[in-house]
Amino acid sequence: MATLRPSSTGWALFLALLTILLCLVVPGEMVKHNNFKKCDQSGFCKRNRAYANSASNQGSSWSAPYHLDSSSVKFSNGQLLGTIVKTIENNEKVNLPLTVSFLESGVTRVTVDEEKRIKGDIELRHESKVRKERYNEAAKWTIVGGLELSSTAELVKETEAGVTKVFYGPNNKFQAIIRHSPFEVHFQRDGETHIQLNDKGFLNMEHWRPKVENPDREDNDSKDNVDDSTWWEESFGGNTDSKPRGPESVAMDITFPGYSHVFGIPEHADSLSLKETRGGDGHHTEPYRMYNSDVFEYELNSPMTLYGSIPFMQAHRKGSTVGVFWLNAAETWVDIVKTKASTNPLALGVSGKTSTQTHWFSEAGQLDVFVFLGPTPQDLSRTYGELTGYTQLPQHFAIGYHQCRWNYVTDEDVKDVDSKFDMYQIPYDVIWLDLEYTDQKKYFTWDPLTFPDPDGMQKQLDDSERKLVVIIDPHIKNEANYPIVEDMKSKGLAVKNKEGNIYDGWCWPGSSHWVDCFNPAAMSWWTTLFKYDKFKGTHPNMFIWNDMNEPSVFNGPETTMPKDNIHHGGWEHRDVHNVNGMTFVNATFNAMLERKRGEIRRPFILTRSFYAGTQRIGAMWTGDNQANWDHLAASLPMVLNNGIAGFPFAGADVGGFFGNPSKELLTRWYQTGIFYPFFRAHAHIDTRRREPYLAGEPHMSIITQALHLRYQLLPAWYTAFQQASVDGSPIVRPQYYVHPDDEAGFAIDDQLYLGSTGLLAKPVVTEGASSVDVYLADDEQYYDYFDYTVYQGAGKKHTVQAPLEKVPILMQGGHIIPRKDRPRRSSGLMKWDPFTLVVALDRNGQADGTLYVDDGETYDYQNGAYIHRRFSFSSSSLSSEDIGAKGTKTGQYLKTMAGVRVEKIIIVGAPAEWEGKSSVLVLEEGSHTGSQASLQWFAKQGGKAAYAVVKDPGVSIGNLWKIDFS
Ligand SMILES: *[C@@H]1O[C@H](CO)[C@@H](O)[C@H](O)[C@H]1NC(C)=O
Ligand SMILES: *[C@@H]1O[C@H](CO)[C@@H](O)[C@H](O)[C@H]1NC(C)=O
Repeated sequence: MATLRPSSTGWALFLALLTILLCLVVPGEMVKHNNFKKCDQSGFCKRNRAYANSASNQGSSWSAPYHLDSSSVKFSNGQLLGTIVKTIENNEKVNLPLTVSFLESGVTRVTVDEEKRIKGDIELRHESKVRKERYNEAAKWTIVGGLELSSTAELVKETEAGVTKVFYGPNNKFQAIIRHSPFEVHFQRDGETHIQLNDKGFLNMEHWRPKVENPDREDNDSKDNVDDSTWWEESFGGNTDSKPRGPESVAMDITFPGYSHVFGIPEHADSLSLKETRGGDGHHTEPYRMYNSDVFEYELNSPMTLYGSIPFMQAHRKGSTVGVFWLNAAETWVDIVKTKASTNPLALGVSGKTSTQTHWFSEAGQLDVFVFLGPTPQDLSRTYGELTGYTQLPQHFAIGYHQCRWNYVTDEDVKDVDSKFDMYQIPYDVIWLDLEYTDQKKYFTWDPLTFPDPDGMQKQLDDSERKLVVIIDPHIKNEANYPIVEDMKSKGLAVKNKEGNIYDGWCWPGSSHWVDCFNPAAMSWWTTLFKYDKFKGTHPNMFIWNDMNEPSVFNGPETTMPKDNIHHGGWEHRDVHNVNGMTFVNATFNAMLERKRGEIRRPFILTRSFYAGTQRIGAMWTGDNQANWDHLAASLPMVLNNGIAGFPFAGADVGGFFGNPSKELLTRWYQTGIFYPFFRAHAHIDTRRREPYLAGEPHMSIITQALHLRYQLLPAWYTAFQQASVDGSPIVRPQYYVHPDDEAGFAIDDQLYLGSTGLLAKPVVTEGASSVDVYLADDEQYYDYFDYTVYQGAGKKHTVQAPLEKVPILMQGGHIIPRKDRPRRSSGLMKWDPFTLVVALDRNGQADGTLYVDDGETYDYQNGAYIHRRFSFSSSSLSSEDIGAKGTKTGQYLKTMAGVRVEKIIIVGAPAEWEGKSSVLVLEEGSHTGSQASLQWFAKQGGKAAYAVVKDPGVSIGNLWKIDFS
């Protein structure tokens, strides 16, 4: 190009060429928007937005056509039944059965179905054999408990005509006010409305209707401004959706009066506090979309759909958190609009406040919505988890560091990387194999040339208690002489196309079929494939990665399956799309449980696609991100949002999947990644190798320090995981969750708290930074984790130095943090290491904290084989008490742990009276005399707090003990 000297006409040509070149180059670095639907390219999305427009434009003259038939209302045993009647053209009526269930937990569930479809009283087009009902099995895959009906909910007797009221919830302090005409529900807590269903009248259940082949144009629907062009057929990207059941979307508006922040509905690459989607400041123009998709090189600050969906939303304001869970497995969009009370005189009691109005629409299925009245974020986590399940307590190794790339190319390569980590004394727990380990992309095989000795490889890893994870995807190569595909075909276990034949699509192996895990027979078959004698060359230290399970289909519409594909049970893919990926993970989870009779270990499975409930069976990561600073920054709100949506075992690819990070970026990414609950480095096949030992100095040492920090805090991490597994608490928590009354912190999504430890981290996510500003909500003293510098002052930002070698972490006064300080090669080798306790005193000289420990591997903890302690410091005395429950395996477990001791106690903010003191009195259960341990006191220096160190108090971690400092 240097010799090109364009003439003036040549310039035009040159510019034209340049434009073409840019067009060729740019899309390679950005998401291909044309591959994915915008709202106006998705028939039901466009129709429902138009419906909302028309309702809004008519203002107070809008009369929604949905009325609850007063004579149909019955209430008994915590449940209200009735029929909503929709009035359509020619005054015809459509019956929509309504159920409002008041649950023992205080949650309400509202479902609406369609009588004609329930009865099968409809005709399908194209001689389709699919089911006629609206999809009614989303709960079957998602809900695992919490559905007991309230025994105390009661119908309020005398009320005005056309209104039904029910008291329910704790002490019957909640009230549902159901207006019959038009149908509308207000949910109140302590007399104040927090959630309104159909307040704006956007409820829309597209009823079944026959297709009129040659419509009499005089009698078409356009008099109601209804666009019927997408009712019967829809084309996108060269694929035509045959829609045998016609239009059947469900939609409703849900308003949160007085709430200006809403969070949740992952997965989107966006801020934690969701943005408006129809006007407003910094708004999006598209609704937030949930349609699990393999979005290549996804973009940031976008409501575009990604790999997984959890239709659970929390609305938050000072002193109150409420929420809704929209249980629907079909494609779903959510519009968000915020209004100031002045323009919304009907929102009583919230004058001057902002309200958030949301509008939800799904392509198919029942209307099924759960309403949560809080009032705290913790109440939402707990009650949502009661329904969809809590986080699996993972094996302990799974919270260590995972080393992955596409691909470690041979078994020798894996062994070499493993040895290098040891040579450079860098800890890691798991090494991963992406799909190139297989024999020509056939899962359950090894490439005979590159992985001739999987046994030797796993054995070497096992020598240092390390694990292997291999990828197994749901697409099965369609090739002769591959017994797995032959078996799957002959047994009829694959997803079918609309004609009822085995669906064939294109993925990594080329022509492929997809296992249909909605079929119980497919799940049983899948289980057989993981037995040691079937998946040869695999060991107990091998675990599984389920990728591409949206499912990703390279030649399918929007890179997935056609919606008119057919699953087990006669459901269309349209009905089940968003739970599809989860059923595959579940099949793998069950298979891993049954690898060998008598060998029950907690499975570890990473999944890319997910839905509400996937937290029970796996971990997720945010998919194919990019090696740039913006993607590093975006990972924090994404991981935090997953946590509040009930799926906290989350992380992003450290280093960025596409592209080559600079050394500074890679280093900062490790320092951030140590705060992802799921902590894995991963890289695309075209990137340069970037294992930490290749970073060169000083980067290698700094990354190693970050890894040591993660490993040092593993006891705190594991304790946070255990808490998540019993009450749904996020493992890393956003500012509003920890300080729900501090309005200035609600939108903050770039700093996080680790469990209940009081550790507050603000990772550096910008280039060239040498400090960060940490926001403190309260007036407690916060100590720098490393040098105990004190930061104090509520409601403002504090500058914390953050040169490249430093991770900004503060300890909130009032907490006790358990650690293990001895560096090892893997977490498995730390099992018997002693503990260090860091006691960060609050302004009153008090602190407490918890520790959970078990074998990290089996389910014996369910029989009491664990240690759960609360440590408290007050009145100059530190004590450890048991907060666990006993079980059949408690005694045995405590015996194995008897030698695991506390080797050091650091008291930060130690009182000045301790100056000159040189010992403390240690009292431990089983010893009558007590003993002395040495104490060293260090005076306060500059801005740094005084501290004291107790050396080797010798107490056992599982025992009752007390240390007296007075
Ligand atoms: C519906 O009928 C009206 C007249 O009533 C006509 O103007 C309009 O074009 C028709 N719409 C369609 C989509 O055929
Ligand atoms: C998971 O597997 C269990 C046991 O086979 C089954 O009962 C459950 O319905 C499955 N759940 C999902 C989400 O596939």
